[in-house]
Amino acid sequence: MESKKITLIPGDGIGPEIVEAVQDVLEASGAPLDWETADAGISAVKRHKTPIPQDTLESIKRNKVALKGPTTTPVGGGHKSVNVTIRKSLGLFANVRPAISLPSVQTRFSDVDLIVVRENIEDTYGGIEHWQTPDVAQCLRIITRPGSLAVNRYALEMAKSMGRDKVTCVHKANIQKMTDGLFLETFRELAPEYPELECDDILIDNLCMQLVSHPERYDVLVLPNLFGDIVSDLCAGLVGGLGVAPSANIGDDRAVFEAVHGSAPDIAGQGVANPTALLLSAIQMLHYLGMHDHANDVDTALRMALLSGIRTRDLGGHATTLEFTRVVINALPRRDRYPKSHIAHQGKAPKMPRVSEEDAATEEPKDWTVVGADVFTHGDGIDKLPKKVGPLQLNMVSNRGTKMYPGPQPDIFMVDWYRCRYLAEREVSDEEIHDLLKKVAEGYPWVHVEKLHLCDGDPMFSLAQGE
Ligand code: NAI
Ligand code: MG
Repeated sequence: MESKKITLIPGDGIGPEIVEAVQDVLEASGAPLDWETADAGISAVKRHKTPIPQDTLESIKRNKVALKGPTTTPVGGGHKSVNVTIRKSLGLFANVRPAISLPSVQTRFSDVDLIVVRENIEDTYGGIEHWQTPDVAQCLRIITRPGSLAVNRYALEMAKSMGRDKVTCVHKANIQKMTDGLFLETFRELAPEYPELECDDILIDNLCMQLVSHPERYDVLVLPNLFGDIVSDLCAGLVGGLGVAPSANIGDDRAVFEAVHGSAPDIAGQGVANPTALLLSAIQMLHYLGMHDHANDVDTALRMALLSGIRTRDLGGHATTLEFTRVVINALPRRDRYPKSHIAHQGKAPKMPRVSEEDAATEEPKDWTVVGADVFTHGDGIDKLPKKVGPLQLNMVSNRGTKMYPGPQPDIFMVDWYRCRYLAEREVSDEEIHDLLKKVAEGYPWVHVEKLHLCDGDPMFSLAQGE
């Protein structure tokens, strides 16, 4: 097998210590890898004045695979998070976090075998937030069809190529009918292409309760970004926490593997960091590269080491990074004793899923028309709202999502921020909406406008609670 060049990012704090340990194990395993070291984090700021130099991004793009130590996010100075920059600028749309019970790691459960696939780009992580009045803040949650197809496709392909049994789509589509509804809909569109997998879905709140009582009921979970963030940490807790939580960030033809934990400044430089999480990430990387035998060897050696009772401080032991690493290396099968044919044998690379052109293309809806607008006002009431402007009629007003006009006032605490829905019986023009805004502004300042669309006659907007 040809050797594969990997971008290696030592990172900050304990990063260089655990990266070196993992590099030693991989080299001892005989995996055919070459390294290209690249800077990121605080150490990069000193040398390049930015935590994520362009050279580092170029190296990842060239090699297509990176193994990354944790990086310290510089506080202040306007530096962006290294991880978010890497994720977004390389289009790493899926975050894959296995949570698998390890021997001798004390937890409440001993039979957890889960893989969390989290959408990595969209959702509230677009960071589109606004203050609309001194009392009201808004965050836009963006879910797209191509984004949802990409991560759901990946989860299904991954489950299939790994021989897993079940994929569960996690959502809150009963409340967020459009955003989570879209995420769930794309999952359901793809699922029939995978008859070998059991595909189901569950509400996020129910899932959390089920996971902490019966984690063995789940296999692969696929979730939108924010739910995935939370649930993947919950799953890490089920198997022993940060020291043993690996992750992979997967894009169309590139991937970055790293531990979930940070740079642990409190123990940096002491030689006591646990390399397990990064080693587990490296095992994911070997599988990604199709080096399944080496991946299995390293996995077995890690488990043998833990079974032997050796542990780093975070897991209640006394071993240093170096001592633990030596035991893992000694537990590796001796490849030099095998006949050549065995060394040459490599498992087939799993088909790495990509988003097909077909999946990504959004069909232009046939009939997509504007029939009104939600005008958000910052006012002390609604008495001065116009009831009708041209074809647009005041149809509904809500406060904090609850309908307050027409009909009786709801028994909730109100803020000085109203959503005023104007609808017409026919398509309306931009001029007609401009006229509406001018009239509304005679009574109250408006802070935000959202057009209301029909698609083939169906409303593309939610109703207020009580409407
Ligand atoms: P942290 O994960 O670095 O540390 C939390 C606690 O866990 C500490 O007590 C630490 O000693 C311990 N710990 C973490 N990894 C360990 C390991 N491998 N072996 C033994 N003990 C370990 O989280 P914290 O303190 O919140 O963040 C420190 C820095 O790391 C921050 O600058 C943060 O931005 C950054 N960070 C970077 C990440 C990345 O690059 N992927 C992820 C999370 C945080
Ligand atoms: Mg998190």
